Amino acid sequence: MSETAPASPANSVVIAVDGPVAAGKGTLARRLAEWFGYAYLDTGALYRAVGAKVLRQGGDPADPVIAIKAAESLDESDRAAPELRSEAVGLAASKVATIPGVRAALLDFQRRFAHQPPGGKAGAVLDGRDIGTVVCPDAPVKLFVTASDEVRAERRYKELLDKGESITFERVLADLRQRDAQDQARATAPLKPAADAHLLDTSDLAIEAAVAAALEAVVAALKR
Ligand code: DC
Repeated sequence: MSETAPASPANSVVIAVDGPVAAGKGTLARRLAEWFGYAYLDTGALYRAVGAKVLRQGGDPADPVIAIKAAESLDESDRAAPELRSEAVGLAASKVATIPGVRAALLDFQRRFAHQPPGGKAGAVLDGRDIGTVVCPDAPVKLFVTASDEVRAERRYKELLDKGESITFERVLADLRQRDAQDQARATAPLKPAADAHLLDTSDLAIEAAVAAALEAVVAALKR
């Protein structure tokens, strides 16, 4: 049996980037990883892969038995599924993410990635909902990225239109609020800022300004 990966870091520098859907955390986390030469993990993609796998099997994402089985048997091909970024898979991901057994099945992978980053990198940037609170509570840098509901829905709406999905703004806003509510209300590892997280509101920031603000916050945290 494999040992459980520790919550405390070995020697890699971990940057935790959490926040609700479409706050801009993915872009910021990717840019931080590039800047510092660290490995990057989109942890939402793991939950999306589980949700997509359950949907492909014709199962209900809220069914713990099916969802936990899917999480425990997740492989590279599931993580590369083409439908991962769709709205339907996002909602399914939010549902499987409420199941403690699913979260437990994905925890070791995330911690190993953080503490032994692939490619021998000196650090890792993980983005998600519970990186600073549960996955890597000892991370030296924690950002919590937010933006207003309307701004986030507008960004997500444009993204979906660009991908050719036919959807209304109102639907996107309603889905986003449903996912926020599900992510915040769940008993296990709910979406919330860690007590020591730096809060970054990107509502009025263009991408480059948000990246600059995130870099500044990371550099300040690393100096502490
Ligand atoms: O970041 P995203 O929209 O791709 O995430 C999809 C869903 O996965 C999100 O609604 C909640 C869940 N999730 C989670 O519970 N914990 C994480 N660390 C990342 C995502």
